[in-house]
Amino acid sequence: MNTADSLDDKFSPRTFTITTPLYYVNGSPHIGHAYTTMAADALARFKRLQGQEVLLITGTDEHGQKIERTATEANLSPQAHCDKVVADFQQLWQQYNIQFDRFIRTTDPHHEQIVKEFFQRVLDKGDIYQGQQKGWYCVACEEFKDERDLLADKHCPLHPSKVAEWRDETNYFFKLSAYQEKLEQLYADRPDFIQPTSRRNEVLSFVKGGLQDFSISRVNLDWGIPLPNDPSHTIYVWFDALLGYISALAEPGQNPDLTSSISKWWPANVHIIGKDILRFHAVYWPAMLISAELPLPKMVFGHGFFTKDSKKISKSEGNIVDPLQLAQTYGEESLRYFFLRCFEFGQDGDFSEARFVEIVNNDLANGLGNLLNRTLGMVKKYSEQLVVPSCNVAEIPADHPLKSIGQDLGSRVSNHYDQLAFSAAAEAVFDLVRASNKFIDDSAPWAMFKAGQQAELQQVLYSLLESARLAGFLLSPAIPKISTAIYQQLGLMIDFDHLQSTGATVDFSAHSAWGFLSAGGQLNSAQPVFAKLELASENST
Ligand code: MSP
Repeated sequence: MNTADSLDDKFSPRTFTITTPLYYVNGSPHIGHAYTTMAADALARFKRLQGQEVLLITGTDEHGQKIERTATEANLSPQAHCDKVVADFQQLWQQYNIQFDRFIRTTDPHHEQIVKEFFQRVLDKGDIYQGQQKGWYCVACEEFKDERDLLADKHCPLHPSKVAEWRDETNYFFKLSAYQEKLEQLYADRPDFIQPTSRRNEVLSFVKGGLQDFSISRVNLDWGIPLPNDPSHTIYVWFDALLGYISALAEPGQNPDLTSSISKWWPANVHIIGKDILRFHAVYWPAMLISAELPLPKMVFGHGFFTKDSKKISKSEGNIVDPLQLAQTYGEESLRYFFLRCFEFGQDGDFSEARFVEIVNNDLANGLGNLLNRTLGMVKKYSEQLVVPSCNVAEIPADHPLKSIGQDLGSRVSNHYDQLAFSAAAEAVFDLVRASNKFIDDSAPWAMFKAGQQAELQQVLYSLLESARLAGFLLSPAIPKISTAIYQQLGLMIDFDHLQSTGATVDFSAHSAWGFLSAGGQLNSAQPVFAKLELASENST
């Protein structure tokens, strides 16, 4: 692993590169696509908040038989079909307020150039040879399957409505088997390379079973990149698409070659993917990179799958949850919050609209919104001016019910983000929100006011406002608009969306510390930061 590790050392720790998968354009985007992208966006926003220079890459995977067939069925040329679906993806990311930095299409001309250069490198290395490919191919997976892994009548387990097709053709192969030891060494040297642990174990056992070379070219398929050494073949869609992570890095106007493309943003810090495409990212991709003598990504995180009515949500199963319609009905912030909060990122989860509505109403309206609203209301009622109550934070004891939770919350949430533990991050913030609402009842500020206990009252109100602020700050990667509204009411003029898009920075350590609000600072009148949702249809589950 020396090649990879020594190149990794050149990586600047201030840059942080995140990728989503490059989505197939065989149909409209579904909620699984939105899920990965929301998570990647939240991570990107968190890292930007911490002052890192972040590059978030997303895009589309447009070649291959699956896309070619879909276009033919729609009576469109493959390119026209791709253009149409790409527009849907871009509209969706706008609707979900995704702040990506690069959108790579595998039909971009500069991508083709990078793929050909990469192919040539691996060929020159002696890792590509011609052979005969016989086997069962699932077009929906774009992958050859072991016969023993197929269901009855040769149906694919991942696409039970699709039948695998028999192929017997001359292909070019990549010598994956030559990388068995190097990959095992990689997994041993870098236990964090594949996350979470359950996925790592899956890969370890797959690799232990012995790696076989895989075919990286197709005949009789025009919709792809021709091989530089044999244009009668096109490059296998996965060998092409993975390179999108590198061609996305080419600066606009730059001569797109491998060396210049990897100069600033490579290696990626994390490839966020679904568990179904783990092998490609955690086995094939590192082997390809080692062969081409390029640095390896730092981490591959394979998240879980959503089901609807306990069935995989997928185009081929026809039980798509339309993410665009969901966002248009409920607004993207509630969805961003729900998906990050309610599913442990590595685990599977079942989507239900009723549960979604219940949870966001409970957390965002009754929990967070109410906390701010009640507290600002009390400040207004019990003070002469609408300003941050005076309070000496240093004098508040460390075991104070809110300070004790708030004081190291920023570092706990950061640690959770480093592990892509989005739900744990939100849960940690909500411990503070829950404790704050309870603190209102326990400390009874109205009684303090009546008893003329001014100093105590000021401290209680300060602690509550400060806790609402800190919660808003730490939730901003998930719900930037709500967080901006919270900050605005607290007299802090930060627009978390604007901040991200202009590349401006905030002092993360100051804002993430409990006790940031300055006494006497002007506050604004309370406005609901989140309007309760109504379940759109009675039949929704
Ligand atoms: N084109 C490949 C990726 C190439 S990356 C160089 C691909 N595309 S995909 O559109 O089929 O899937 C993209 C992602 O969506 C995958 O990470 C997949 O796991 C994820 N999901 C697809 N269905 C999903 C759910 N039902 N739930 C969660 N994620 C799901 O694979």
